[in-house]
Amino acid sequence: MSESESQSTTKLWGGRFSRPTDALVDELNASIGFDQRFAKQDIAGSIAHSRMLARQQIISQEDQDQIEQGLRQVWSEIQAGRHEFRLSDEDIHLSVEARLREIIGPAAGRLHTARSRNDQVATDLRMWCREAILMLSAGILDVADSLVETGDRYPDAILPGYTHLQRAQPVLLRHHMLAYVEMLLRDLDRLRDAYRRTNQCPLGAGALAGVTYPLDRQFTSDLLGFDQPVANSLDAVSDRDFVIDTLASCAQISMHLSRLAEEIVLWSTPEFGFIELDDAFATGSSIMPQKKNPDVAELIRGKTGRVYGHLMAMLTVSKGLPLTYNKDLQEDKEGLFDTIDTLAMILRVLPPMLSSTTFRPEVMERSAGGGFALATDIADHLVKKGLAFREAHEIVGSVVGYCVEQGKDFPDLSDDEWRSYSDLLADDKPPLTPRDAIEARNMPGGTGSSAVADARAELPTRLDEFRGWMNVENERVQSIDALISGE
Ligand code: ARG
Repeated sequence: MSESESQSTTKLWGGRFSRPTDALVDELNASIGFDQRFAKQDIAGSIAHSRMLARQQIISQEDQDQIEQGLRQVWSEIQAGRHEFRLSDEDIHLSVEARLREIIGPAAGRLHTARSRNDQVATDLRMWCREAILMLSAGILDVADSLVETGDRYPDAILPGYTHLQRAQPVLLRHHMLAYVEMLLRDLDRLRDAYRRTNQCPLGAGALAGVTYPLDRQFTSDLLGFDQPVANSLDAVSDRDFVIDTLASCAQISMHLSRLAEEIVLWSTPEFGFIELDDAFATGSSIMPQKKNPDVAELIRGKTGRVYGHLMAMLTVSKGLPLTYNKDLQEDKEGLFDTIDTLAMILRVLPPMLSSTTFRPEVMERSAGGGFALATDIADHLVKKGLAFREAHEIVGSVVGYCVEQGKDFPDLSDDEWRSYSDLLADDKPPLTPRDAIEARNMPGGTGSSAVADARAELPTRLDEFRGWMNVENERVQSIDALISGE
């Protein structure tokens, strides 16, 4: 088929077909409605590919110049909202190429030499995905910072620590906030890991088997800021592990944030009364005038469902797919986009919500002292006097039983009452305040105030390690902006 003939058909592969596709097929088949999100990556990929082709003398430098100029024009039209995304063009790859042909004519037909949409789409999506990972990482760092700041605002505040959602032992609010920072640090680590596997270049794999031209895959890979070309051509076009890695990291991030959200919901109830959400981050009820609802936290919790759903969908789409590319893989995009958009929104709203939340340290501390939360400390006190822990546990258990029966709490007990359980409890008083319990735990990783201050002091370095990684990668990723702008 000559170049002029191919121009006369709507589809770029028109020769094999004598009738256009059914309108319903166009509708089902098209991904243009959503894959236009990576138009920038598609165009950058094409510029890099064409430069490599010219360098390897597979196309002429004159053609490459025209192609690159033309692609830049397509990008400026897209940016200006002047590009027409036609369903008949099926996807972003064909849409860009069709417009390029309108702009520069036959030379456009040389761009797709030694390339298939199979290696093209995998490359585009990897480029999109790596930027998304960096964007989410920045958002997670913001949330981590706001958790640290919340702890810093209330360095002495005490709240009950829970197991089984039963008051267990008092802890510092700061310690509690830093526990979430630990989760987020692991999330950052997972994202960085996903990034490493994402940032490899499929171009050169062609449809599946490699191509018959003397490509320089490393050159294209470098131009696009990838770490290296994907090793195996079959794997290059069929692998979507990077999508699954990203979705799995997102699922875990969402899970962590849903736990924080749940605590915010609980803490804001009058039953707990630990926090007061700022009016700007709470909503009212259309019928019950007294209500102040933690909708934001509930939505953070609730949206975890769709994030998990997208992970499950992608695992299911991938299951049992024979090598190599199958159109099923087109289903990789919408769930990924929705996941990233959903999480990006959540990561944006959390920092201002946290920093505008007022904690009520008096209420929290009162609650931390109740519920016999000092029982372990009293047992430990007996152990330090020489008793075996099991015996001490038994004794304090009996004191608790007595208190429950009498409607009393530890501080209400008289010396005689203590003595009736053990002389050791009357003569030298065990710790009876939540602060005593906290300060008794100044061991590494514990809730004692100096242990927590130490952990707090190490955080900037630990978080900065990820900032450093992000800065390096952000700069590399921006190399594609330079390709597009021609600078
Ligand atoms: N729109 C397609 C996708 O998203 C691009 C690859 C099409 N390849 C093909 N052989 N039909 O997966």
